[in-house]
Amino acid sequence: MRIRPPSRRIGILLSGRGSNFDAIAEGVASGALDAEIALVVSDRIDAPGLESARTRGLEVVHLSSAGLDRATFDQAVADELVRRQIALICLAGFMRILSPGFIRRFPNAVLNIHPSLLPAFPGLDAQQQALDHGVRFSGCTVHFVDESLDGGPIVRQAVVPVLPDDDAESLSARILVEEHGLYPDAIDVVLSGRCEIRGRRVVIRD
Ligand code: GRF
Repeated sequence: MRIRPPSRRIGILLSGRGSNFDAIAEGVASGALDAEIALVVSDRIDAPGLESARTRGLEVVHLSSAGLDRATFDQAVADELVRRQIALICLAGFMRILSPGFIRRFPNAVLNIHPSLLPAFPGLDAQQQALDHGVRFSGCTVHFVDESLDGGPIVRQAVVPVLPDDDAESLSARILVEEHGLYPDAIDVVLSGRCEIRGRRVVIRD
């Protein structure tokens, strides 16, 4: 199936630091990424990424999940995105699992970045999982989000070595450098309409 986003309007969902959001915003600002960040949503009012978005003059929304069940919260997020006619949703350190109803509302229109070479080490603490397993290489993955945990079709991956003296902090930092290049590039590839999903494979045309 060819993926053809109807516009270049993207929405970012984040919960914390926001360094991937910053990389995306810098990509847009420099012209390297042809996209418009039409909305930044955070479930955490104190997320540094939310403040960064405000400082950049972007439209931001904080939605608290307190007292809401998952479906209700997700519907509120989805409504904000639909209202701004978002064509592609980019999860950037969004620390919530999206409900099947949300995913079904945006088929093949949600991307995530994960700090491991999926399908290895899905879920939390991926860098520590990689260290504990003793792998020699790890990295990061940008993938479409489906109803599985970090299991959707893979758009791009980058590899980093795991060094003998690494701890979770040093490995995370090495991976993060790659994330910041990989995510804007993957978003650009998807927005440009060059992706085709064939089963589990994402085929990218030049
Ligand atoms: C990154 O490691 C990303 O791969 C994972 O969450 C972290 C978010 O970091 N999904 P930041 O908020 O973008 O700095």
